[in-house]
Amino acid sequence: MALSAKPYLQRITAQFGHDVDWDRHPYNVPSVRELESISFHADVTFFIGENGAGKSTMLESIALALGFSMEGGTKSVRLNTAGETAPLYQSLRLSRSFMKPRDEYFFRAESFHNVATYMEEVGYLDGYGGSLHSRSHGEAFMAVLLNKFKGNGLYLLDEPEAALSPNRQLAALSAIHQLVQQDSQFIIATHSPILLAYPNAKILLFDGAGVTEVAYEDTEHFAITRDFLNHYPRRLQQLLELD
Ligand SMILES: Nc1ncnc2c1ncn2[C@@H]1O[C@H](COP(=O)(O)OP(=O)(O)OP(=O)(O)O)[C@@H](O)[C@H]1O
Ligand SMILES: [Mg+2]
Repeated sequence: MALSAKPYLQRITAQFGHDVDWDRHPYNVPSVRELESISFHADVTFFIGENGAGKSTMLESIALALGFSMEGGTKSVRLNTAGETAPLYQSLRLSRSFMKPRDEYFFRAESFHNVATYMEEVGYLDGYGGSLHSRSHGEAFMAVLLNKFKGNGLYLLDEPEAALSPNRQLAALSAIHQLVQQDSQFIIATHSPILLAYPNAKILLFDGAGVTEVAYEDTEHFAITRDFLNHYPRRLQQLLELD
């Protein structure tokens, strides 16, 4: 059997120095404080958890440790409008495959607009199939997913669903699956019960206990969404205290 190139990023291990200030961000985030190591799935690893649980902090730190800039994009994007650089990446040790990914991209919904502007300014838009500003937010993201990602890649995505209609989330699932079959690995922070259904994946829950693996149907995303859609008149009555 041939040795598999994936996962390109196999594992991160926390090695906190003695000078870490546990009272300050990001070390005061419980999932960071409790972090020992994270082993990644060869295909897709999802980060889930409450707002503020530390998913973006972790994804950004991994991206920085891999050599991306905070704002995301390809590694040639050099932007830092996102504020001070998170120091956590200095405490992360990366275990990588013997083979490097041929393609890499760090997508942050929060700063995608800035990256698109930068691409336009430096005249680097071929890979995107034309200007991203003349498209809607969701269309621009789908353009990145369909045109920019070439396969044999390592892709870090922070809330890609933010831009996408439910229908486009299904299309994104299918695009992700194709890229996975073309030897790509994804690490995705998401709240989307649709994306989380992807089967060749590992779901990691970020909370006060640290980072733990959960099954899809045991996630709140699955349970709450299903319950709400199945019983929404009753749930609305309870939530809004209607008669
Ligand atoms: N630059 C910063 N300085 C201080 N605290 C910060 C900073 N950035 C984030 N935080 C705090 O760190 C915690 C983790 O934030 P993070 O953005 O990683 O959460 P998240 O899990 O991605 O949440 P969401 O689902 O809302 O995107 C939050 O409590 C947040 O307020
Ligand atoms: Mg976030």
